[in-house]
Amino acid sequence: MALAAAERIVVWAGRAIDARGRFSMALAGGSTPRATYRRLASEPYRSKIDWALGHVFWGDERCVPPTHPHSNYAMAYESLLSKVPIPDENVHRVQGEGNAEGAARAYAGELQRFFGTALPRFDLVLLGMGSDGHTASLFPGSAVLDEMERAVVVVSADYQHRPSCRVTLTPVAISAARVVMFLVTGGQKASMVQRVLEGPPRSFPAQFIRPVNGELYWLLDAAAASQLSGCV
Ligand code: 6PG
Repeated sequence: MALAAAERIVVWAGRAIDARGRFSMALAGGSTPRATYRRLASEPYRSKIDWALGHVFWGDERCVPPTHPHSNYAMAYESLLSKVPIPDENVHRVQGEGNAEGAARAYAGELQRFFGTALPRFDLVLLGMGSDGHTASLFPGSAVLDEMERAVVVVSADYQHRPSCRVTLTPVAISAARVVMFLVTGGQKASMVQRVLEGPPRSFPAQFIRPVNGELYWLLDAAAASQLSGCV
């Protein structure tokens, strides 16, 4: 799956740079995308992206310093950003170490300056999904799922002993992207994959991601896809 993801990212980066002279990508947190980031940081993929024209953001961040083991920035730095020639000023991280509301405001301002619009139009947003159907830091039952104006909010949610305070893009901000790609692996998520993709809509946060003028992809390994109808 990491290979398939890296191949697609290279193509989308090239298309964005050809069309608009830059490539903006919001990274996913959690552990699943690490293999994809490592692929992207290795040849032949590494040299196929013009990193000087690449801009990296995050879909969500935990309220921890950038060196913390639970920092999404730290994971991306270790697996990808420290290994590719991306200029420091092209790395637009959420300041998880500060006051959460202040970090959300600063990140929203950064998005506004970069995109020049109320909602960011990322070339690509990468997302993971939890076994409860959450994505980014959009958790089941959260009022933020119906947020229509703000691009960035602070939330609090407990999941697998990970930090509960989070700063996250809202569904409306993610859904403004040109391309959104979910990366999901493992049999423990198979039932939720089936419910999200084949069950009634608006039941789980991942279903609230619906690009309005863009494309949506789900990249699954065989185990994660095993309960979808038509899969053997
Ligand atoms: C985070 C996320 C979150 C993550 C899922 C899946 O910061 O925790 O961005 O939405 O993608 O929880 O996490 P795993 O890949 O570790 O299963």
